[in-house]
Amino acid sequence: MAQRVFSGMRPTGKLHLGHLAGALTNWVKLQENYKCFYSIVDWHALMSEYADSSMIAENCKEVLLDWLASGLDPEKCVIFVQSHIPQHAELHLALSMVTPLGWLQRCPTYKEQILNIQNKDLSNYAFLGYPVLMAADILLYKAEIVPVGEDQSAHLEITREMARRFNSFFGNILPEPQIMLTPTPKVPGTDGRKMSKSYGNAINIADTPSEMWNKIRPMITDPARERRTDPGDPEKCPVWDIHKVFNNNEDEKNEIASGCRSAGIGCVDCKKKLQAHVERVMGPIQERRTFYEKSPDLLSDILREGAEKAGEVARRTIDEVINAIGFFKRG
Ligand code: TRP
Repeated sequence: MAQRVFSGMRPTGKLHLGHLAGALTNWVKLQENYKCFYSIVDWHALMSEYADSSMIAENCKEVLLDWLASGLDPEKCVIFVQSHIPQHAELHLALSMVTPLGWLQRCPTYKEQILNIQNKDLSNYAFLGYPVLMAADILLYKAEIVPVGEDQSAHLEITREMARRFNSFFGNILPEPQIMLTPTPKVPGTDGRKMSKSYGNAINIADTPSEMWNKIRPMITDPARERRTDPGDPEKCPVWDIHKVFNNNEDEKNEIASGCRSAGIGCVDCKKKLQAHVERVMGPIQERRTFYEKSPDLLSDILREGAEKAGEVARRTIDEVINAIGFFKRG
């Protein structure tokens, strides 16, 4: 039997090239060899967006389109929306009973977000419990492997501890998942910082070629290369970082790097070459995106079938959990 994989993304908006080069490319590979469950975790989004939940549904659709466009195949993996499976909430409640507050209060992501996010009131009960819901997501499917970025490793550690603690009270029911750290190639945004929706520097999967060019053309390059005649250093240039991810032509890359160092090639020409590679990679992805955008019925079918498959597994786990707890039977 293939091992089970679970991962999720919060529906916070359109996905970008950083998501594609990191998580999604890896997820697409995993669906070939594992039993993969990929969830759009809308309850997690609500934890920070509760004051204005109006965008969550629309964002779920955008994430679904970006996933399908990137190559997640509903014939090969289970794609579903977290809130369609009520058992996430139920297991979250069960796990919350055995979760020591200190685990959550000490969680580095919690401490950091409370300090750094000032425009939202995050002093709510559920936000503290973010890792409990995430553990419920994973343990509900008894996932053995969880592909995530380094930023999620503390949550995975709490998930493992939670499984052990639950099992110590109720018997061996929930297997401890392993983290699979996703290799994340460096994808800087147009301003040279990490590509992120919140920095406004992202190139989206859904951007048209001309929208992409409008972002790539003014991109920051090696700041020391002020004039066309100045030699540059590719290792200080965010455009070069993106070449490394999207340009598959080694000879051309060597030419660009040495041309940059000798001032033999200008930044605009280098960016034009990058644009060509981005268009080559994104062509089939955008074609699929357009296809699914025009097929709303197909999207509903995919989510309904995903929820059926996920629900079957989820109900089985919850039955085991309720039995192990030993609640009074309905008869
Ligand atoms: N916390 C993850 C993130 O912000 C999203 C997530 C929720 C998740 N539940 C999950 C990831 C379960 C992996 C497994 O990226």
